[in-house]
Amino acid sequence: MEGGLLLLSSVIFLLQGACGCPETCFCHSSSNFVDCSHQGLAEIPPDLPPEMLTLLLQDNQIHHLPALAFRTVPRLKTLNLSNNSLSELAPEAFHGLQHLQILNLTHNSLLSLERRLFHSLPQLREFAVSSNNISHLPKSLGETWENLTVLAVQQNQLQHLSRELLESMPRVRLLLLQNNLWKCNCHLLGLKLWLEMFIYEGGITDGVICESPDTWKGKDLLKIPHELYQPCPPLPPPEWVSSQAHRPGSEHGEAPKPPEDHSQSQHHVAECEAKPKPRPANLRHAVATVAITGVVCGIVCLTMLGAAIYGFTYAAITAQGHGRPSAQTCQPGKPGEKEPLSSLPA
Ligand SMILES: *[C@@H]1O[C@H](CO)[C@@H](O)[C@H](O)[C@H]1NC(C)=O
Ligand SMILES: *[C@@H]1O[C@H](CO)[C@@H](O)[C@H](O)[C@H]1NC(C)=O
Ligand SMILES: *[C@@H]1O[C@H](CO)[C@@H](O)[C@H](O)[C@H]1NC(C)=O
Ligand SMILES: *[C@@H]1O[C@H](CO)[C@@H](O)[C@H](O)[C@H]1NC(C)=O
Repeated sequence: MEGGLLLLSSVIFLLQGACGCPETCFCHSSSNFVDCSHQGLAEIPPDLPPEMLTLLLQDNQIHHLPALAFRTVPRLKTLNLSNNSLSELAPEAFHGLQHLQILNLTHNSLLSLERRLFHSLPQLREFAVSSNNISHLPKSLGETWENLTVLAVQQNQLQHLSRELLESMPRVRLLLLQNNLWKCNCHLLGLKLWLEMFIYEGGITDGVICESPDTWKGKDLLKIPHELYQPCPPLPPPEWVSSQAHRPGSEHGEAPKPPEDHSQSQHHVAECEAKPKPRPANLRHAVATVAITGVVCGIVCLTMLGAAIYGFTYAAITAQGHGRPSAQTCQPGKPGEKEPLSSLPA
């Protein structure tokens, strides 16, 4: 008897729990709709009907979402948390919301969004986090957000938005970006290029108005020509850094070092070879010049010597044959040679 009563009361309690509605909310069972908006709530009401598809929690004072905050309403498709005091979300806050399609977090105090947060929402289509204090979004998601079509991040503190993040949302068609602190330097060039393609393909955006640097303040990112971006400092590739580390050694060390550098990265080789290369080339050139000069001089000298010997012999022979007159013909041309020439036969 007692056991039966206990069973009956617990069944009644369970039925009440399942079909009940939190005191502070209005439940529309026929449309699976719960409206808990504007009730001064500081937390998610604990006893939400599990079959609900829409949960309105806007205009409350909820400041924190713990992990698995919505585990009791796993079928939710629409969740509105707009105009609360959210500054902190547990990374697993939305865990279990496999079917959520619309998430509205506008008008809160969020500072950043973690990558893990996005991972729990595979079916999301519309994601609004406008009017928060977000200064940081993940650089990439690591997986594609296949069904996302609306992303709204206006009215935040964003300076930069990575191209990789946008590339992980291939179906986005509406992108709201205005009123952030966009820093239009080289790092925003990826966003500019992505947006150009996005608009070309029919996407809609409210645009990116630069906040800094002063030269571009108030200008539309898309209207600044590519060439006017200050070049980003080049990111040194790891090999370059390591050869940089070698560099002082090779500078203070002696001659054997440069050949070692040849095995380093192409970039550094090019840089290092620029100086040592001309030297061996010049040296070779000099050696070649000396050799050629030597050979030419040698040939000229030998020719001259041969000519001299020939002339000498010829003169001697003619002197022997004709006597004085031949010696006299030689006299004006080579006065020094005349003496031995004439003295030889004497
Ligand atoms: C935000 O919610 C508060 C109540 O918490 C309400 O007084 C205020 O009007 C709401 N603001 C907007 C913009 O709806
Ligand atoms: C969320 O709540 C706001 C009011 O704060 C309302 O304007 C907006 O339409 C709601 N969005 C959805 C999807 O219910
Ligand atoms: C979110 O709520 C705001 C009002 O607070 C509304 O203007 C906006 O359209 C809503 N966005 C989505 C995606 O529901
Ligand atoms: C995207 O939406 C379609 C249609 O609703 C659905 O079949 C698909 O599973 C969704 N993609 C993901 C990753 O959930």
